[in-house]
Formats: sequence, C-alpha cells, structure tokens
Amino acid sequence: MGKSQIKVLIVDDIAETRENLKKLLAFDGGFVVIGEAENGKEAVALAKWLKPDIILMDINMPVMGGIEATRIISVEMAMTTAVVIVSVQGEQEYLREAIAAGARGYLVKPFSADELVSTIRRTHDMEIQRRARLMPSMPLQRKLGRVISVFSAKGGVGKTVIAVNLAAELGKERDCKVVLVDLDLQFGDVAIMLDTSPVRTIANIAREREEEVDSETVEACLLAHNTGIHVLASPLRPEQAEAVTEGHVEAVLGLLAESYDFVVVDLPQRLDDISLAGLDMADTILLVTSTDLPSIKNAKVCLEIMESLGYESSKVKLALSRPSREHGLDINEIEKTLERKVDVYIPNEERVVSQSVNKGTPFVISYPTAKVSLAIRDLVRIIIPQGEGDAASKKASKGQKLSSGKKTAGIHGSIFSMFLNG
Ligand SMILES: Nc1ncnc2c1ncn2[C@@H]1O[C@H](COP(=O)(O)OP(=O)(O)O)[C@@H](O)[C@H]1O
Ligand SMILES: [Mg+2]
Repeated sequence: MGKSQIKVLIVDDIAETRENLKKLLAFDGGFVVIGEAENGKEAVALAKWLKPDIILMDINMPVMGGIEATRIISVEMAMTTAVVIVSVQGEQEYLREAIAAGARGYLVKPFSADELVSTIRRTHDMEIQRRARLMPSMPLQRKLGRVISVFSAKGGVGKTVIAVNLAAELGKERDCKVVLVDLDLQFGDVAIMLDTSPVRTIANIAREREEEVDSETVEACLLAHNTGIHVLASPLRPEQAEAVTEGHVEAVLGLLAESYDFVVVDLPQRLDDISLAGLDMADTILLVTSTDLPSIKNAKVCLEIMESLGYESSKVKLALSRPSREHGLDINEIEKTLERKVDVYIPNEERVVSQSVNKGTPFVISYPTAKVSLAIRDLVRIIIPQGEGDAASKKASKGQKLSSGKKTAGIHGSIFSMFLNG
C-alpha cells in the first residue's frame, strides 16, 4: 500500500457532480483523479486504458448505466480496479444490485469529504488484501526460507525436545542459517533446553506496533547459540506474553524467512491466534502426538481443523513421540483412527533425552548416533524430501537460498472462532 497515491476514475453524467467529487478528493493528498467519464460505456473503455485503483461510479447514466459497467469491470479488471458505487438515498434496491454486480464499496449521498476519503481507502486496502489472498503464488514478502512449525494439542509429548533438536540438526549443514522461535509465550522452554539466558525476547519486539516491526528490531532480539543456530526466546515472564499479537508473529516469521534458510517454530500446545498464525505461516507443520488415547483423539481433531483451514495434506507431517507398547495404542490402530500414516517415530530414550535436557545441549550434538538422534535425521529427510533435498543441499553448500511457495496468513480468525464456539 505504501505512500503512493490512490488513482481514481470519476464516472457521472453530470459535470457538476464530477467537479464536486474532484474538489473533495483534492483536500487529501492521498488521491489523484486520473480521468472522468460521462457514462458506463466510457467508464469501461477508460478503466481498461488507465487502470485506476478505484472507480467512483454513479448508477443512473445514459448509454450504459453504472451497474452494467460495474459488472464488466469487476469481471475483467478484478485484479486492478475496484468500483465504489455512489447512489442517492432511496436507491437501496440498486445498491444491492451493484454489490451483486461486484461493487466493492458504496457511498450514499449526501456524504462528507471524510466519508468519501475513508470509504475509498478502506475499499482499496481490502482489495489489496483480497488480491493477495487470491494469488497465493504472489509472495506477500520476499520469502526465501522455509518455516517449520512444531505443534501438539497436548503438553509433555516432546514437542520442544523435537523443535530444539530439529533446529540443531538443520544447523549442522554448512552455510545453512537456522533460527528457532519459541512461541510458547507463557511457559517457553527453548532457552532452558539450550542452556541460555536471553536478555531480549519476542516481548521486546512486541513493544513495537505490528506494522513497524522491521528486520533490525527482530535481529536485535535474537541470541546466537553455540550450536550455530539463532534463537528468538519467549518472554521472560508469562504476563509479557499478552503484548505479542498474531500480527507480530506474522511479521517476525515473515522477516526471519527472508534471511534464514530454516525457521523452526515451537508453538504453544493450544489453538489460539498465536498458534494459528504460526500454523498459517508454516510451509511444513509437524504435528506431534504420543500414543495414548487422549493424545490420538486430540491429534485427530487437529488434523480435521487443519484440513478445514485449507492446508494441503502434504504440508502436515505427523510425528509419533515415544511410542510405547505398554501404555499406548498400536501403530495400526493409530493410523486407522487418524486415517493417515505416521511420518516419523521419535523413540523413547530416557537417558539420552533427560541428560540432554538437563545439560541444555541438543542430543543431536552430544549423542549424534543415539536412536533418537537418528530419528531427527529421518525427520529432516521427511521435511526436505529427496528431490527437493538436492535443492536444499545445493543451497546449503553453495549458499543459494531455497525458494518456496507463499502464505496466506491471518485470514482464518473467523474460521477459528467458529471452531471455538463449536
Ligand atoms: N523421545 C523422548 N524420550 C525420552 N524422554 C523424552 C522424549 N521426548 C521428551 N521427553 C521428556 O519429556 C519431557 C517433556 O518434553 P517437552 O519437549 O518439553 O514436551 P512439550 O514441549 O511437548 O510439552 C522432556 O523434559 C523429556 O524429559
Ligand atoms: Mg514445550
């Protein structure tokens, strides 16, 4: 959106009305009137030529009316131009028709300069967001790296252990830049599992307004770990978590993906705005579950929600943590219940894992040949499949960046509350 002026085409059969609109718009430096038309037919021709951002369209005009013109423009110029219908009181019926014809906004006369300006602005902003969502191939950001979000519906299943070791394993590749982000904002364990005491955390970033977060701010809050990875820690105190919004999460992950090859995210163990933003921003979601019945049930609910959020099934990978024959369901039962295959098994290895957690050294570093470390290596291969793995390893050795598809963050708020409300 930036500071560039919004280009407006004015369409009305009465010259005086056009003049008045021009005068009203002239008060605000944010607009430039690039043309005028006297009827719908002229409007269509001029719109195709001038590609205005916004057309202010009268309804009743000779030759071709505003509704017919709106229909043509909203179909043929859906990605460049939005129509704001200008009507007078008593034309409610027309208004409905205009909206059905594809008008994106409307103004009812008489209106003030403020109303005019704010309606055009709002319509324009909404259009830009709508187009960004419609064009998933058109990146919102210049994103280069891959975001891997680790999620679980239940605590204590090994989510943080996996996130930390996955990041450390990815960080072993030469020239591969990895950042680990702790979004378990209230009770994050990433810093302690890496034996670090962060001074700055994501809470410092959250002091900025979402739209003002830039890469310098984010970079200044990262901590360099001796494994070679960088860490963005969760707030030092639970009460600082509140300041962090889904907008901050989107900004932070988007910016990090611009300069890191891998952004590994440890999400909180619940579905809320924060975790949803982390899931939305992810190229790969690793859903972690243990083998007990409540975990499996919750994993199933999560898979269903992710499907209804429109995530491609290939985006979601399933990890079974600490499969145990004694307490858990067997693998066949689990796969049948979840209606999908388990992608990776993370074995139960008490001694290795508890030593690693207590010492604050990832086991992929201190016990690289332990079964649980080999499982993390499998996980890397699953997240970066062979064909692509070539690209990843090329990138890792030649410093080339992996490019990947983009994201549609932050549009699921309403869908999410639907789930919450049952
Ligand atoms: N693969 C494993 N083998 C043995 N113990 C594990 C394993 N994964 C996790 N644990 C134990 O479970 C505890 C909780 O793991 P954690 O990753 O903190 O869970 P979550 O993040 O899901 O709440 C860890 O402190 C560790 O002692
Ligand atoms: Mg955890």
